[in-house]
Amino acid sequence: PASELEQIVRDHVHETPNFPSEGVLFRDFTPLFADGPAFKRAVDLMCEQIDAEGGVDVVAGIEARGFLLCSAIGYRLGAGVLPIRKAGKLPSPTVTETYSLEYGEATIEIRDGFLRPGDRVLIVDDVLATGGTMVAAASLLRRFGAEIIDSWVLFELLDLHGAKALADNEIPYKSAWA
Ligand code: PRP
Ligand code: HPA
Repeated sequence: PASELEQIVRDHVHETPNFPSEGVLFRDFTPLFADGPAFKRAVDLMCEQIDAEGGVDVVAGIEARGFLLCSAIGYRLGAGVLPIRKAGKLPSPTVTETYSLEYGEATIEIRDGFLRPGDRVLIVDDVLATGGTMVAAASLLRRFGAEIIDSWVLFELLDLHGAKALADNEIPYKSAWA
């Protein structure tokens, strides 16, 4: 049977075929974020499962929908939040990481100066697809000496094998629903 968290997430998704392009079934979690009690319960359940024994210093959220989660989870854990942005949105100094997509490449960046070696960091996003973004985020954060204690998404597209990409890069990982 589905866990309570999985059931909440499954019950609060909006699925759109052929968006943003032909052949893609897009999962949008606006119904979860817009429902106060469901969002609170989902965040509480995610926080309970985070291995926070040694504390969490920073929750890093991946643009754009990861920001919604990182703020709530960071507040709940008493941790700081750090946005991982698409290139070109942040003023200097920043540190960037470029990674390959199916066609072309993408770049993410964070502000420099807000992570210390040994910081215990949790990464969050809404969806794991190929895992390329999450792997790039982890390697960016690790360049500062951060320890990735966990990563969390609401939903994993199993066909794209993102969890394997994370395992290959020794990134601990959980998804609410796959
Ligand atoms: C989506 C999703 C993840 C990423 C997953 O973001 O929110 O961040 O793609 O893909 P991957 O596992 O293959 O790297 P999107 O590119 O739609 O950006 P947005 O949230 O800024 O719209
Ligand atoms: N929803 C949100 N982000 C995504 C998706 C999706 O279905 N697929 C790849 N990135």
